[in-house]
Amino acid sequence: MQTQTLTITRPDDWHLHVRDGAALQAVVPFSARQMGRAVIMPNLKPPVVTIAQALAYRERILAAVPAGSHFEPLMTLYLTDRATPELIRAAKAAGIIACKLYPAGATTNSDSGVSDLWALLPVLETMAEVGLPLLVHGEVTNPDIDIFDREAKFIESVLWPLLQRLPDLKLVFEHITTAEAAQLVAEAGNNVAATITPQHLLYNRNAILVGGIRPHYYCLPVLKRELHREALLQAVSGVHAHKFFLGTDSAPHAQDSKECACGCAGIFSAFAAIELYAEAFEQINALDKLQAFAAENGPKFYGLPQNSDHITLKKCVRKVPTSFNYGDKQLIPLRAEETIAWTMVD
Ligand code: DOR
Ligand code: ZN
Repeated sequence: MQTQTLTITRPDDWHLHVRDGAALQAVVPFSARQMGRAVIMPNLKPPVVTIAQALAYRERILAAVPAGSHFEPLMTLYLTDRATPELIRAAKAAGIIACKLYPAGATTNSDSGVSDLWALLPVLETMAEVGLPLLVHGEVTNPDIDIFDREAKFIESVLWPLLQRLPDLKLVFEHITTAEAAQLVAEAGNNVAATITPQHLLYNRNAILVGGIRPHYYCLPVLKRELHREALLQAVSGVHAHKFFLGTDSAPHAQDSKECACGCAGIFSAFAAIELYAEAFEQINALDKLQAFAAENGPKFYGLPQNSDHITLKKCVRKVPTSFNYGDKQLIPLRAEETIAWTMVD
């Protein structure tokens, strides 16, 4: 039997963490090999809050792109309580692709995030006016709310009221993890879309806790019940599939900051992103929908052209290494020492 191959338009990653310094040098080549473009998350320490910081960060990323790759980083700003409408206008003019909303305290390096969304209304109104998308980490941070309920709670207490107040705001609900989030995106207007990670399509919360505590399956928003994974698979293949697109949330952390008493949230998947998505789509017999998810829906939402070149995947098992070099540390990838059913060929 011939090996099954799949050729699709080169994908983009609409949600990616590449860090800085030696870590950046280590991870950028993985994304540059697979992706045409990536929306770069601004949660550095300190966060990327000014246009000058974003443009300088862009240069550092480009310097880490291997020769021959045309990978294009799309830069975002980190919204703080101090953001202004003038900043938004200047960001749009400077080619910033979007602004990221982290509710203060929601996740890694979110301490400078927004503490009162409604106080930021003039900023959000300006974003709607100039067409700059708001990328939302959609979880409430109230300590009384169970961590598995934080996304669903955010939808009713923040997202619907925000969309009612600003019906034209372009908004990406990032890394959605629940049936409720998929439903919100399906019901909202075409100004609302969502990214979905490979881990939330492939795993449920058992992956973190069954048979031992597995820090390399811990990310935020945390993996949910199987019924939510099924709802996400339905979302990427169903009637509203055009509103969902690829965003890995690949979020590298050195081995020692994952494997410790209080490990960081984040899963490193960029080394095999498209292959992991192919596995998920194959599970539901929807490989014919992979190209739209990976390479068409995102550019359409952002008003950008699709990539003009292609990549090819082979149905050929690849072994995942134990770890990758990460500056002077090690980075444990998703599925370390296991296999992935697909391999991208060069
Ligand atoms: O798991 C996560 N890791 N979720 C986030 O929201 C942030 C990310 C990171 O930067 O490590
Ligand atoms: Zn992220």
